[in-house]
Amino acid sequence: MKTPPSAPSGELARISARLAEAEETIRAIRGGEVDAVVGSGQQGLQVFSLEGVEHAYRVLIESMNEGALTLTTDKMILYANQCFARMVKCPLEKVLGGSFRRFLSAEDRAILRPLLKQAAKAGSKIQMVLKAGDGSKLPVMISIRPLARNDSNVVTIGMVVTDMTEARRTEELLRALTHRVVQAQEAERGRVALELHDNITQLLCGVLVRSQTLADKLSVRDGPAKVEALKLREMLGQTAEEVQRISRGLRPSVLDIMGLAAVLDATGKEFTARTRLPLKLTCVELTARLPADTELTLYRILQEALKNVEKHSLARRVTVRLKRQGDSIQLVIKDDGIGFDAANHLLGKKGKRGLGLLGMRERATYVGGVLKVKSVRYGGTEIEVRIPLVVG
Ligand SMILES: Nc1ncnc2c1ncn2[C@@H]1O[C@H](COP(=O)(O)OP(=O)(O)O)[C@@H](O)[C@H]1O
Ligand SMILES: [Mg+2]
Repeated sequence: MKTPPSAPSGELARISARLAEAEETIRAIRGGEVDAVVGSGQQGLQVFSLEGVEHAYRVLIESMNEGALTLTTDKMILYANQCFARMVKCPLEKVLGGSFRRFLSAEDRAILRPLLKQAAKAGSKIQMVLKAGDGSKLPVMISIRPLARNDSNVVTIGMVVTDMTEARRTEELLRALTHRVVQAQEAERGRVALELHDNITQLLCGVLVRSQTLADKLSVRDGPAKVEALKLREMLGQTAEEVQRISRGLRPSVLDIMGLAAVLDATGKEFTARTRLPLKLTCVELTARLPADTELTLYRILQEALKNVEKHSLARRVTVRLKRQGDSIQLVIKDDGIGFDAANHLLGKKGKRGLGLLGMRERATYVGGVLKVKSVRYGGTEIEVRIPLVVG
């Protein structure tokens, strides 16, 4: 066996110096201290850019509290940060190179497919539920953006995944609270209606009879006194009617007595009589009664919407439509008034935030429906509620 010729000690020192230099360069590259390396290639000296900024982004992405991923359009995970691995309770090595689909339900997979296609051009945002490695579920918001095409002109997709557990919990709490407010409101309305009916109406009736007796006892010779007594009786009659109207509006039992279509019609007529605003009602012919809570929801939403038209809209006309839409029932209340910023009304000035729209939305959601508010400043307002009818 031949022993290699021993290198002169000067050569050895030079090699170990170069090795130390190379090691230092690698350390600096890893640490992000350099942006580019100059190396000698076939065409002489060449600059290899290391895109120093990338390091800062990498540190940011690794340390942030959101999951970050890059995917191919086939949903293969090219890169994921530790936070995403923690979210899906799966070791990072097992996440990388795997498919993103494994963390989604079949339903969400179908939703994601067109989104990714579209994201390759424009980007989008969506709420989904991730299936973690241990079978638990995590509500998330996924923000999808296309990343620059690489050298082979292939698009990669960047995703930021935000844990929505806390936001969902707060949302649920808020909904539970709003629901309790609506329930309390309904109970209070019932109580007030009863008080009005049992006490005020009874009393008013008594006073009305007495004022009639008084008017009868006064003869034409009593002149102005008789006129006053007659006026008094008339005003008391109007007051009793007004109390009746308010009491009727507060009681859900009118629905049982009159049925939804008749109640909507009476509500519209009362509205016009009081406000002098023309209201056009078109109502689908209902062959059977709707579920009681659906009827009450529609009635209360109409009342609340008309209250808003009267209070805020300065409208000249109102239209109300009740119609069947497949397996659901739809109520639309539209005015041609001044409108408002529907997207931000909940953030309105302190002390000016009402419960009306919030309550309407809660009532609709509670019976599985959806409420949409479309409003344009100086372009009118449209409230649309759609409630599914459970076909038994
Ligand atoms: N039909 C409407 N036309 C114009 N503005 C409206 C209409 N409905 C609601 N708004 C606006 O939205 C706000 C919130 O309405 P709501 O939640 O019912 O509370 P409130 O009626 O007690 O103010 C109102 O204060 C008003 O500014
Ligand atoms: Mg209101």
